Amino acid sequence: MLNIFKSDALQGRTYLVTGASSGIGKATAVLLSECGARVLINGRDESRLNETLAQLSGAGHLAFAAPLETSDQTNDWLKSVLDTSGPLDGVFHCAGIELIRPARMIKQAQLNDVLGSSLFAAFGIARALSSKNAMVDGGSLVFMSSVAGSTGQVGMSAYSAAKAAIDGMVRSLACELSAKKIRVNSIAAGAVHTAMHDRLTKGSGDDATTAYEQSHLLGFGEPQDVAQAALYLLSPASSWVTGTTMVVDGGYMVR
Ligand SMILES: NC(=O)c1ccc[n+]([C@@H]2O[C@H](COP(=O)([O-])OP(=O)(O)OC[C@H]3O[C@@H](n4cnc5c(N)ncnc54)[C@H](OP(=O)(O)O)[C@@H]3O)[C@@H](O)[C@H]2O)c1
Repeated sequence: MLNIFKSDALQGRTYLVTGASSGIGKATAVLLSECGARVLINGRDESRLNETLAQLSGAGHLAFAAPLETSDQTNDWLKSVLDTSGPLDGVFHCAGIELIRPARMIKQAQLNDVLGSSLFAAFGIARALSSKNAMVDGGSLVFMSSVAGSTGQVGMSAYSAAKAAIDGMVRSLACELSAKKIRVNSIAAGAVHTAMHDRLTKGSGDDATTAYEQSHLLGFGEPQDVAQAALYLLSPASSWVTGTTMVVDGGYMVR
């Protein structure tokens, strides 16, 4: 994977990556480790999470398999992780699930799943890390958003709501946490080749998938395209960047 950072650029730093058992989170965990960071990884599937653990460079990494579902539960879970890890230099909250379903068919349980893993867990992370000694000065929080947070698509209302809420949360949270010298940003990604992408496109015909890819000026992305952006936002290279949503979408939103 392309890595413009030195192999010791993040030496002595500890990062948590949620959603690290697959796709974008996994690629970011690997990249962070290749820059010398200690990485704590989270996902639900323990065996795939352990596969990620085995792919990390260096030593000292830890896996914490757990579903992230509500703000309270995520806050409690992260506080127990912090008891083991000590203060964090950054968190990339990448966990999330998709939902394609017309609003007239969406039930509360599905809203809980989509908003829980993405938005409610993000609030739990913010709460746990607002505690004294949970993050080092200059720490960085990065939340995974999507172009769906600012564009419309049939069947995407719940997912779009979750990601738009993440972007809104980031702006106010950046104001709140600046007193603690903690930066807060999100990444709005276009379509990236991952397991989620495969699930989203498997019902589409070849023509529809080709048209979808062509709506991205640079075609579909790869997990490392987003991992590079996450690495920048988590690292001190972005020390004057807070309260913003970085668009990494292969030119999807320009049109
Ligand atoms: N791929 C895209 O085109 C795209 C575009 C824009 C934004 N995104 C966003 O990028 C993030 C990563 O997506 P991806 O494409 O890499 O998907 P992915 O390959 O399906 O990976 C999703 C990850 O999230 C974890 N996860 C899901 N629900 C969870 C929960 N309740 N608690 C803890 N972990 C949970 C999964 O864990 P298990 O597999 O262990 O269950 C997995 O590690 C998501 O937030 C997604 O919305 C993706």
